[in-house]
Amino acid sequence: MDEQRELILDQFTRQAIPFSQLHAKDDAQIHQLLINTAGIEANDNVLDVACGPGLVACEVAKVARHVTGVDLTPAMIEQARKHQQSLAQTNLDFVVGDAHPLPFADGEFSRVITRYSFHHFTKPELAFAEMVRVCRPGGRVTVCDVFMNSTEQADLYDRMEKHRDPSHTHALQLNEFEALFSGLSDVRREFYKYPVSVDVLLSRSFPEPGGADSFRKMVDGDIGVDRIGIDANRDNGLGFAFPVVIISGKK
Ligand SMILES: C[S@@+](CC[C@H](N)C(=O)[O-])C[C@H]1O[C@@H](n2cnc3c(N)ncnc32)[C@H](O)[C@@H]1O
Repeated sequence: MDEQRELILDQFTRQAIPFSQLHAKDDAQIHQLLINTAGIEANDNVLDVACGPGLVACEVAKVARHVTGVDLTPAMIEQARKHQQSLAQTNLDFVVGDAHPLPFADGEFSRVITRYSFHHFTKPELAFAEMVRVCRPGGRVTVCDVFMNSTEQADLYDRMEKHRDPSHTHALQLNEFEALFSGLSDVRREFYKYPVSVDVLLSRSFPEPGGADSFRKMVDGDIGVDRIGIDANRDNGLGFAFPVVIISGKK
C-alpha cells in the first residue's frame, strides 16, 4: 500500500464516527442539489465512489433503484452499513475497495457520483477515468468537491488543509475540473458554500502536533483578506466556508 492510502486509512478510520456525526446534520437541500444535478431517477443503478459513512448513498437510495457504495476505509463502510440498517433500506450494497482501479465492470452503472473525495486523490485524472469507465454510455458522471479559482488560492488552501488533515492532497481549480469533464457532453455545474466553525471542525479532525494551531492561524489571517477564498470570519467564533462545485457530464 502506498503512503497516501496509509494516510487515508489512518485519518478516516479515526474520522469515521466524528465525520458521520458532523455531516449527519447536513441540510437536505445539499443532497437534493447533488441528486438533481446528477440526474438521478427511479430506474438508476448508482455507484457512489469513496462513499464514506454512506450518508449520500442512503439519500440517493431513497430515489434510485439500487446504490453501491465503495470506500477504501473499512471503518467507513462499517458506519455506512449501520446507517443503512438504521433506515431499513434494502437497495444498497457497500464494499471496501479502491477508487482507482474500481472493482467493477465497464458500463455497470447508469450514474456514478462522488462527494468530497477528489482532494484526497493523488491521481484525480485516473479516478475520473475509472468513474467514466464503469458508467454506461448515455449515463452521467458527477463530482462534488471543494474547488479553487487560482493556483495561488489552491497552494494556500492545500497548505491550510494539510495542517488539519494530513490526508489532504490537492484541491482542484475549477478549470482543472472543467478539463476532466471536457470529454463528456451536457456538462452541468452547481455551486454552494459549506460554512463551518473552526472549533467544531478541529474537534472532529486528527492533525499532527502543532497542525491545529497552524490551521487556525491561516484561517484567522485570511479574515478580511480572502486570499484563500474561504470567506474566513469571526461572525460566530472563528469560521469559514468551503466553496463547493457539483459538476456533472453525460458519457
Ligand atoms: C471526506 S470523506 C467523504 C465521504 C463521503 N463521500 C461523503 O461525502 O460523505 C472522504 C472519503 O474518501 C475515501 N477515500 C480516499 N481515498 C480513497 C481511495 N483511493 N479509494 C477509495 N476511497 C477513498 C476515504 O476513506 C473517506 O471515506
